[in-house]
Amino acid sequence: MTATLIDGKAFAANLRTRIATEVAGLKDQGIVPGLAVVLVGEDPASQVYVRSKGRMTREVGMNSYEHKLPADTPQDALLALIDQLNEDPAVNGILVQLPLPKHMDEALVINAIDPAKDVDGFNVLNVGLLATGQKAMVPCTPLGCLMMLRDHLGSLSGKRAVIIGRSNIVGKPMAQLLLRDSATVTIAHSRTDNLPELCRQADILVAAVGHPRMVQGDWIKPGATVIDVGINRTDDGLVGDVDFDAAKEIAGAITPVPGGVGPMTIACLLANTLTATARVYG
Ligand code: GUN
Repeated sequence: MTATLIDGKAFAANLRTRIATEVAGLKDQGIVPGLAVVLVGEDPASQVYVRSKGRMTREVGMNSYEHKLPADTPQDALLALIDQLNEDPAVNGILVQLPLPKHMDEALVINAIDPAKDVDGFNVLNVGLLATGQKAMVPCTPLGCLMMLRDHLGSLSGKRAVIIGRSNIVGKPMAQLLLRDSATVTIAHSRTDNLPELCRQADILVAAVGHPRMVQGDWIKPGATVIDVGINRTDDGLVGDVDFDAAKEIAGAITPVPGGVGPMTIACLLANTLTATARVYG
């Protein structure tokens, strides 16, 4: 192995410790940040995420409010719950776990969340604020990736970044964040011509496609920093979007799966909840 391992698990633990210290300080002033997580339906992966979000929220000393609704909940009932959470002063952050059942309009539901409590950063107001370089709630997964990149590389200015994946949750906000740090950014996707050649130009390669081990060793520029956002359940267990065993011999640094981006996502959710709380009381 030649690549440095970027230890997201340790980074996230450290971030959560710092958050817990700030939460303890708020508690001395009688303020307890609250995060409400809404899960509609019984998607097993979502249930796992929601459980660990709740546990980690409590571990840093925040209040966790979990709302589990059946899969056939009418959209209006979900919108009514969001209204109630928007109005509740004990709730500083609201997260509606995606994907939602097919009968719901995801964009409508997300945009019903008060932008000041939108700790996912998915509301169009926050998307627009980020895209125009204003103070925004930033989506947790790309925020975690950015923190690890800055920690490992220092300045990202002038670096060539290729992001594989154009989702609203990861690919597009990742591009905005890297642009904000003056990287030269390309978003690639399933229709991109000659993807391996494009990837080989990247100093920073972010894989967020959802295809197990798609990124091969010879797609990677020697010494590049590789961030693997993929979490794919296979017969071999959890694997990323990057062929880790091949990539680690060529990259300069790489995040493992599990233990890379995943833990940072939840830690950043807690960081966003703290930010949302501080904006109310600050
Ligand atoms: N589903 C998968 N990732 C996410 C996320 O970051 N936030 C929400 N709300 N749902 C998700």
